Parts: sequence; structure tokens; C-alpha cells
Amino acid sequence: MQVIKYMFQPHGDERGQLISLEEFKDIPFRIKRVYYMYDTKDGVIRGHHAHKSLEQILVCIHGTCKIKLDNGIETKVVLLEKPYEGLYIASNIWREMYDFSPDAVLLVFASEFDDESDYIRDYEEFLRYNYDLSGEELKIVNGG
Ligand code: TYD
Repeated sequence: MQVIKYMFQPHGDERGQLISLEEFKDIPFRIKRVYYMYDTKDGVIRGHHAHKSLEQILVCIHGTCKIKLDNGIETKVVLLEKPYEGLYIASNIWREMYDFSPDAVLLVFASEFDDESDYIRDYEEFLRYNYDLSGEELKIVNGG
């Protein structure tokens, strides 16, 4: 599985840093929704779902956290620790967010409004959905 990270351009000067993100330019889709997570409690794992069509870019604008990506065949863990890096998550990827530092703020740009019918919240259903899409044989990998 290819992990796609965007490195955003900071506009730095003696006063500090500023990052500007525009849809279709820095973010590869129309931004219909922005949300963020903060004050995440120790030991919490968020996510546990995939989306049928939603695309997202995750930016840990403060602190650190880890994102586990799973395409049904393999898993990858990505550490987000810089406010200038964005992790792209395509549709049909199971994701879990965890190991949030107490000061972590995880900002998410989403290509769609929130729509419960776009969620796949059951892992077995996610595997079946991907299998149906790809027609390929699935190997289930534990851990990652
Ligand atoms: P949840 O889906 O549990 O977040 P995650 O999967 O990232 O851990 O969402 C937590 C709550 O926030 C839940 O009540 C739904 C609400 N919510 C919205 O109202 N709009 C949104 O865009 C999102 C992502 C969540």
C-alpha cells in the first residue's frame, strides 16, 4: 500500500510560520468539511471505520499521533508529528487514530459532508466490500 503524504509549503519569516491550503491546489479535492480532534484521552483509539467514497487529508497541527491504514491486504502505520505534513486517505481504507499526545490537535479536510451511509463500521463488511470492488483474493494481515 502506498502512503501518500503531502508536504505543505510554510511561509516563514522572522515572525513565525503560516501555511495556507487551497482546494484542488494543496488539497486534491473540493473541501466540503473540516473537523478536528483535540483533548483526546490517553489510550483512546478513534476511527475504526472506512468510507466508500470519502477522501481525507489529516494534519496533526499540534502534538503527535499515529494513523493505522489498512486496505484489507496490508497495514501501514504513519506518525504525524509536523504541522506541515498531510496524510492523504483515499476511500476504502480502514483507519485507526491512536497514540495522541495530550496536546495533539488532528485537523481533517474531507471531500464530502458527513453522511452515515458512506461509513463502513464493521471490519468484516469492509473486507467483503473491498473484495467485491477488486475481485481479487484477500489476505487478512494481523497487526501492523
Ligand atoms: P466519530 O465518527 O466517532 O469520530 P471518529 O470516527 O473520528 O472517532 O464522531 C464523533 C462524534 O462527532 C459523533 O457524535 C458524530 C460527530 N461528527 C459530526 O457531527 N460530524 C463529523 O463530521 C464527524 C466526523 C463526526
